[in-house]
Amino acid sequence: MANIQSLRGMNDILGKDSELFTYFVKHASRIAQNYGFSYLETPILEETSLFKRSVGESSDIVNKEMYQFIDKGENDVCLRPEGTAGVVRSFIQNKFDRAGGTYRWFYYGPMFRYERPQKGRLRQFHQFGCEVFGQDSVYEDANIIMMLKDILDFFKIEFKLQLNSLGCKTCMPVYRQNLVNSLTNIKDELCEDCNRRLLTNPIRVLDCKNEKCQNLLYNAPKITNNLCQNCDSDFEKLKEILDFNDIKYEIDTNLVRGLDYYSQTAFEFTSANIGAQSAIAGGGRYDRLVEFLGGRPTSGIGFAIGIERLLELIKMNDETKEVIYLGALCEEALNTLTKIAADKRKTTKTIIEYSPRGFTKHFKFAQKHNANIVALIGENELKENTIYTKNTITGEEKTIKLEDF
Ligand code: HAM
Repeated sequence: MANIQSLRGMNDILGKDSELFTYFVKHASRIAQNYGFSYLETPILEETSLFKRSVGESSDIVNKEMYQFIDKGENDVCLRPEGTAGVVRSFIQNKFDRAGGTYRWFYYGPMFRYERPQKGRLRQFHQFGCEVFGQDSVYEDANIIMMLKDILDFFKIEFKLQLNSLGCKTCMPVYRQNLVNSLTNIKDELCEDCNRRLLTNPIRVLDCKNEKCQNLLYNAPKITNNLCQNCDSDFEKLKEILDFNDIKYEIDTNLVRGLDYYSQTAFEFTSANIGAQSAIAGGGRYDRLVEFLGGRPTSGIGFAIGIERLLELIKMNDETKEVIYLGALCEEALNTLTKIAADKRKTTKTIIEYSPRGFTKHFKFAQKHNANIVALIGENELKENTIYTKNTITGEEKTIKLEDF
């Protein structure tokens, strides 16, 4: 009988991955707490209508990717495809919208999307997310972006930040109509998906990955040129605060995000080092979502990091980290090696093997420690005050003066 395997796009997290997972959550949580966020946990299973009303019926997530079923009590439920909707539901259910004030929460856990699995794209993946309620100051938008940057900086992740404003209920409908007018003229040249979106959610046409469509969209109206005075001045202020804090960003007027609840600030952090699924985090403002879900109008803003994609990057950093392996080819070399190790350990992870051995054994041990520099001292080296070194990545071998090592 064949062994049962985990479902496609759903992985166990164990070994080195589980170590990194807890390391990531520990430090991301610490940074979030320093920014005034507290932990919140919501159920993985929610009513399907929650996501239909928030993420949006026309979005791919709701339309094509939900793990949806009727439970034994005839309830239409689904595994959460993202975290924001559940947090907003909880905010309203616990009457925080009536109490007023500012609330900052963080969460992490599994999310489910029935997507086509590929590198960086899973059906069960994990997010670390943060949500803020009751803050309409644009300083909060900057605060959220700075916090996300602090998390990525802590893990030494290089990223690009893409920024856009999606306007508000005053300017977005006018812009949407402008866009529809302009796209209707070229609709025969746009792909099938774009034609469908033109009818259901025209803004998502801007997001099309098809190169021909992207070229055609070049002359389409840009949201940032169509913002009302309030949205425009908020967007300018946000850029000013980010500039003041030396945070680099690019304006991407085609950044619309795959979820329908955003207004004003929308952003995405991407990495050039993890292939096609390059988005490592995304978020933005959702000032109308609480109201949409039946609560008192309350502004909201947040983001979520894709933990698996981030772990991939942390792992890469880990693997490129220098590890020196020091080995003695004769007993007399050990004292010298302890001195070298003390010096190297000020900056670099350094392993010493205390038993004198031959070359082959030392290389085997060095491999176990993932060392990329192997440095050995024997009788000849001792006499000449030198050290044999090999870079295991480039393969370069040389014997150099001890003082040059
Ligand atoms: P999202 O952009 O859909 O936003 O997802 C956030 C992150 O989750 C992505 O940038 C990506 O790193 C990761 N992710 C998404 N889908 C997958 C997948 N199939 N496999 C692996 N990783 C994935 C949201 O979910 C919003 N709730 C973010 C937010 C919070 N906006 C405001 N507050």
